[in-house]
Amino acid sequence: MDTSTSSRTATRDGTHALYAPLPPARYTRTAMILHWLIAVLIIANVALGVSADSLPDDWVRPFIDTHKSIGITVLGLALLRVLWRVSHRPPPLPREFPSWERMAAHVAHFLLYFLMIALPLSGWMHDSAWKDAATHPMHLFGVVPFPRIGLIMNLDPAVKEPLHDRFGALHTYLGYALYALFAMHIGGALKHELFDRKSVFKRMVP
Ligand code: HEM
Ligand code: HEM
Repeated sequence: MDTSTSSRTATRDGTHALYAPLPPARYTRTAMILHWLIAVLIIANVALGVSADSLPDDWVRPFIDTHKSIGITVLGLALLRVLWRVSHRPPPLPREFPSWERMAAHVAHFLLYFLMIALPLSGWMHDSAWKDAATHPMHLFGVVPFPRIGLIMNLDPAVKEPLHDRFGALHTYLGYALYALFAMHIGGALKHELFDRKSVFKRMVP
């Protein structure tokens, strides 16, 4: 891919003329839609997840059910996004960025992809180990029936109960990892925007 900041075009005598600077390289429209859709859903889901404990009793169930539905939606969208990502090369980061920064961005992005899948998966595992799972079937947004993980749901209750706690703790710790990476992600984008004056934000908006 041509990453230079100017374009060349052949003139009638066969030489090349220098033209106006190219606009910054951008992600594909599909990558942008998936990025922002998933970002909004994840932020909403964190808000629902952390507020669940402080809600009046009769609000808890609808909130948690919505949390689970959004989470499963994120899982589906994240899998689609990974497929899109492996089949579409993203625009390379500007060459002016030091190599450590480019490397840090790649590592952070990889870990964010990991969390986009691991967070909903751990929530689903936690929910599948819930002792009342069999009597409270899951319906996405109250409409579409969605299964629990049979391998976990059908375990002996004596095994399942401690697993429920462990998967719950895993879900919480993955949430902490998300907060840290999210802060780095936003911090990195703001640094490039405000201090380096080399926007990466424009690469992710149409
Ligand atoms: C985008 C994906 C998800 C994110 C970002 C997320 C995040 C969170 C967070 C931050 C909490 C609060 C943890 C705490 O304060 O200890 C939470 C709790 C919880 N999550 Fe998720 N979650 C996601 C997906 C799921 C899924 C797919 C399920 C189940 C199918 C699920 C089930 C639960 C349950 C049962 C709780 C405990 C709520 C309570 O009783 O306090 N989560 N989640
Ligand atoms: C308000 C919130 C957010 C802002 C402002 C934001 C901003 C951006 C920007 C500007 C880029 C392009 C970076 C580049 O040029 O390479 C980007 C990429 C990315 N963002 Fe976000 N983001 C946000 C939320 C999130 C969330 C919640 C996640 C996932 C948990 C996420 C995951 C990613 C990933 C994985 C990439 C790299 C895409 C790739 O190269 O395949 N972002 N983000």
